[in-house]
Amino acid sequence: MHILGVPGSLRKGSWNRTLLQAAVQLLPVGVTISIHEIAGFPEYNEDVRAEGLPEIVARFQNAIAAADGLLFVTPEYNRSIPGVLKNAVDWVSRPPNQPFDGKPVAIMGASRGRLGAIMANHHLRQILTYLNAQIVNGPEVLVGEAASKFDDEGNLIDEQTREFVADQLQKLAQFARKLKG
Ligand code: FNR
Repeated sequence: MHILGVPGSLRKGSWNRTLLQAAVQLLPVGVTISIHEIAGFPEYNEDVRAEGLPEIVARFQNAIAAADGLLFVTPEYNRSIPGVLKNAVDWVSRPPNQPFDGKPVAIMGASRGRLGAIMANHHLRQILTYLNAQIVNGPEVLVGEAASKFDDEGNLIDEQTREFVADQLQKLAQFARKLKG
């Protein structure tokens, strides 16, 4: 069972990438995650797409298609997802071979504030629902006050958050297995 993990932030010290790395430590047995960065995507342009997908986009599309499930870990920018993440999703969202169709997806998010990127989480759900992804509804993993939840080495030290993350990963794996038949 292979999960593709996508951090929604380009920032080197990103809390969201740190959360994704922590999730890698909390996987159920038999499940692996590889992290796929979205840095370096060109801005979506229909004229460019008409000439063929840029290689970086094709790689992302193939990685999504090959995965049994997806895990997005996204910050919230102005009560939505970062433009870079929307841009990456837009690139791979056009037919044919729209890779989100039927794909099991879990969403997590971290923020410095208390609400744990809840609006970004729900905006991404809305986008991916339109693309017919199969979203894990709960538990929601909304990591507020992120700075207090990790130690200096980036270990997730908050026990309740660890439980939510592990539970969501378990649900994602179960969901993916069920859909795979
Ligand atoms: C933010 N931030 C933010 N936080 C939040 O909880 N709700 C919001 O709407 C916003 N809006 C917002 C807009 C922009 C343009 C920036 C740059 C930041 C703060 C944001 O959550 C914080 O910087 C996180 O640490 C970003 O995630 P990473 O990069 O640490 O993963």
